[in-house]
Amino acid sequence: MTATALMPPFDATTQATLLVDEITAALVNARIYEPTHPRVQNSLAAVRTTVRRLAEETGADPVCIATADGMVVFQQRPLLGASIGAARLIDQLQQWGAGGIAFGAAFETSELAEFFAAMAARPQPGTDFTHLNATLTTRNCRHVSLLAPFVQGGGEAGDDAAMPMPGTVKVGLRFYQAVIDLLQNVTVSVCRGGRIDFAPVQTQAEQLLKQLDDKDEPLLGLARQDQYDAFTFGHSVRVAVLSMNFARALTDDRDLLIRIGTAALLHDVGKSLIPFEILHSTQILSEEERRQMNRHAELGAECLLCHDDSDPLAIAAAFGHHRAPDGSGYPRTVHDHETDVVTDIVKICDVFEALTAARPYKQPMSPIRAYRVMLAMGDKLNRRLLRRFIEVNGVYPIGQLVELDDGGVAMVRAQGASPLQPKVVLLDSEHDQDLVEAEPQILDLADVACAGARAILRELTPDQARECLDRAGER
Ligand SMILES: [Fe+2]
Ligand SMILES: [Fe+2]
Repeated sequence: MTATALMPPFDATTQATLLVDEITAALVNARIYEPTHPRVQNSLAAVRTTVRRLAEETGADPVCIATADGMVVFQQRPLLGASIGAARLIDQLQQWGAGGIAFGAAFETSELAEFFAAMAARPQPGTDFTHLNATLTTRNCRHVSLLAPFVQGGGEAGDDAAMPMPGTVKVGLRFYQAVIDLLQNVTVSVCRGGRIDFAPVQTQAEQLLKQLDDKDEPLLGLARQDQYDAFTFGHSVRVAVLSMNFARALTDDRDLLIRIGTAALLHDVGKSLIPFEILHSTQILSEEERRQMNRHAELGAECLLCHDDSDPLAIAAAFGHHRAPDGSGYPRTVHDHETDVVTDIVKICDVFEALTAARPYKQPMSPIRAYRVMLAMGDKLNRRLLRRFIEVNGVYPIGQLVELDDGGVAMVRAQGASPLQPKVVLLDSEHDQDLVEAEPQILDLADVACAGARAILRELTPDQARECLDRAGER
């Protein structure tokens, strides 16, 4: 009897997003390790597999990953989820004056190795992507090269011209990218046995809080983007956004809120010390792999404890965010160990994010289903806090796409007087302009209900949500 690995159905956007994550991973690994290191080799193999699959399924040759206006673009569509985690990739392409990367379908793995080794180096003054391409050719790398930059209204990077993005999404995206870039630096530093500089992490937590205060900013909407990133940085940022948004309803102590945000940003810092293959495995982990993976909590706490200037709240959250009030979970302790409320907040947001985000191996769960799952977890979560979290986050969280009873499609922008009647922005074709205007018109469904127009909301399936985002040009 033979076993065949199940392949998920092909989706070009998902595969291109995966490819961007893999390119980012390959670049980070090329910075940290020698070219012969297994992590470098594995990340090159991952890029090769995904490029081949994209070439086969879409017929593209070369497969082009382009950048334009701070976004990653594949076949004329901005990849929002991929762009969130790709700040460094975009930055490196800009340093070379390039508009993207072209992978000719016939490339060899040795060519990829040459390419990433060359890309990881900084360009010499006066050189650009043409010099890099010329150098690559002399090293027998003929099928992987950098593209010329995309020029608005004229030439383009590969075959990819970017669709325009809504202004507010761009602002939120750039900010998101900056936080993820910071977490990448923290991870690289921890991997190399270096120290964590907490000041910029606290500064970013403060900035996140300011952005949350500004209701027009789409941070919580971005927190619901159903695409994933290779290094789980996006996960940590989303947990921080959710944690601070929740904690704002519990306290108005801004210093404490910033400490909570910092603790949430660093809660999974121990994952920097987990083998790459285990961290990014798309298979069910073996018992031994699971045991190693679970060590990230104690490794993270240990790492933070090695710093004189680390915050006890951050140490506690890193250590305790997989422990349960009933004593189950990990790490196990010899004596009773009560978790603090900040750890409980981070834990609830951690579980919610994990359930509602897409991963390479699973579809995102709707918030309502996630709440049901979390309520069914009983004493594994702090029940009192969980109920409050559901109240604050809403039945329809910010960023959720919903369909109204008149068939209109809307995105939730704020909670309303009733959990079932949030404030929304309509995304119908005649309202598409709302997304690109500086101040989109917000519709309070409670007012609509008073006027007699019954506003029934239902959740969109992931496929419907994708279709709507496509229509609104948000992906
Ligand atoms: Fe964790
Ligand atoms: Fe986590």
